[in-house]
Amino acid sequence: MCGIVGAVAERNITPILLEGLKRLEYRGYDSAGVAVYTNDDKLERMRRPGKVSELELALTEEPLLGRLGIAHTRWATHGAPCERNAHPHFSGDLAVVHNGIIENHEALRDQLKALGYVFTSDTDTEVIAHLLNHKLKDLTDLTVALKATVKELHGAYGLAVISANQPDRLVAARSGSPLVIGLGMGENFLASDQLALRQVTDRFMYLEEGDIAEIRRDSVQIWDVNGQSVERESVQYRDGAEAADKGEFRHFMLKEIHEQPAVVQRTLEGRLSQNQVLVQAFGPQAAELFAKVRNVQIVACGTSYHAGMVARYWLEELAGIPCQVEVASEFRYRKVVVQPDTLFVTISQSGETADTLAALRNAKELGFLASLAICNVGISSLVRESDLTLLTQAGREIGVASTKAFTTQLVGLLLLTLSLGQVRGTLADGVEATLVEELRRLPARLGEALAMDSTVEKIAELFAEKNHTLFLGRGAQFPVAMEGALKLKEISYIHAEAYPAGELKHGPLALVDNDMPVVTVAPNNELLEKLKSNLQEVRARGGELIVFADEKAGMTNGEGTHVVHMPHIHDILSPILYTIPLQLLSYYVAVLKGTDVDQPRNLAKSVTVE
Ligand code: G6P
Repeated sequence: MCGIVGAVAERNITPILLEGLKRLEYRGYDSAGVAVYTNDDKLERMRRPGKVSELELALTEEPLLGRLGIAHTRWATHGAPCERNAHPHFSGDLAVVHNGIIENHEALRDQLKALGYVFTSDTDTEVIAHLLNHKLKDLTDLTVALKATVKELHGAYGLAVISANQPDRLVAARSGSPLVIGLGMGENFLASDQLALRQVTDRFMYLEEGDIAEIRRDSVQIWDVNGQSVERESVQYRDGAEAADKGEFRHFMLKEIHEQPAVVQRTLEGRLSQNQVLVQAFGPQAAELFAKVRNVQIVACGTSYHAGMVARYWLEELAGIPCQVEVASEFRYRKVVVQPDTLFVTISQSGETADTLAALRNAKELGFLASLAICNVGISSLVRESDLTLLTQAGREIGVASTKAFTTQLVGLLLLTLSLGQVRGTLADGVEATLVEELRRLPARLGEALAMDSTVEKIAELFAEKNHTLFLGRGAQFPVAMEGALKLKEISYIHAEAYPAGELKHGPLALVDNDMPVVTVAPNNELLEKLKSNLQEVRARGGELIVFADEKAGMTNGEGTHVVHMPHIHDILSPILYTIPLQLLSYYVAVLKGTDVDQPRNLAKSVTVE
């Protein structure tokens, strides 16, 4: 989703801004722009719809050189993705970039129009530029005027502003959309994500909700939500593990699919004893809190929501704890009845998803026992604002379609299930030791599933000409089917729906014909025979079946039935294993269709607006 980069330095900052934008590209966007206070003392901008490379090309033809600037990648919310709507937005000698959504933009626009301001875009952001311009007339100082401006904004924002009148600084404001200051030597930077600045610094200062910052070459000043001058801690990163290259792989998504054995291994490291899960992996107070838990409420979005749905089967089956799972955008606006002693669990790759964060903030008012985040980014807002945390160790995920984040979330959720069961004494005898052993073997099993890469690539050919697909699963495989369908629609744009196989004849069977492939995951569990009957119902209507089945499930190829044999695995861990071929399937279908696999149209990696 939208990205911000800013710089104030002694050197030409345009290449730094462009490099920063490129590093944010993976998040998804549809136009890009930069505004520079040039060496001729003018505020100039360049904006282009499409990729950052288009902007870069335009800047090669007409360079903008300067020592102060801001840049943006925009993911359209208000107004189409075109040059006129791309950021930065100007008002007089001001340039503004904005992440988030200003909810009262219409009322403000009317007021500003009445004052004579002329709007050149359809965006909510332009309102901020004109409002700030208006405030400056009385207040003169840019920072003071920004403080007054944000008081009138409702909604979410991460803002960066420069002015040709006060070119000694970059000013910024954060409310609901993250911003980080990158600290240099005689130069300072700003971004919506520290990854954008790793090429120029390894020292960062995170703004907190409500903060306003004034960033000059040699100083940074911050005021908190109450207007008090505050110091924010600076953090230094030394690891170089954030390299963003595809290695031998054609796409980040394929690389990330293949990283799963290693990152699952990493997520398990230090969290298992000989035959138990180490409960303290969730934090020093975890054991004491877990002992009180009588219910679990999980909230998440997208792929992370599917991980939560799998966890519900585990929590109820293994730990005997009632569990509810809900998408954050629904949960946050619903009147919720909270059962006593309910643990509130959020799941998020980025830890910055607007709806999940808002749900966590609401939950704090609702009387939950405590909050726990299962998250892939240790410095995220979600982690900072939760009582307990389990960090997944998936490493940086670049492909918009989430893969390794999902499987590591599942591992984290199984650790949570076993920890809760262990502390509360609700696990059946021997279950924890067995599953700990199975978890240790999991990376190797995932490696075996990945070895089926070329088999799945062949199967993908069946889908290239299709417009619709059905995914079926039963039990904990139903959310796996949902995740398979989500992956296919996200990157190949084929309409895909998932159903619990038992629901087939209550509706979707009407759609099945020889143009509608049906994908099924069939581990060798007690639901297998029932699933086989469901598959007969599909075959009888001419539907082509693609079945990922346990090698011991006794399923064989036949006319219109393509069976891919999966390595045998303990039933509880099967959702993790069976996710792999579905990821590969959607990947290879997308490659055949020639879509932009890593940055599918209209989607964003981290959805930081509602
Ligand atoms: C976006 C991404 C999805 C992701 C979802 C939730 O829609 O494209 O891949 O699952 O957000 O993101 P989170 O970072 O909270 O897991």
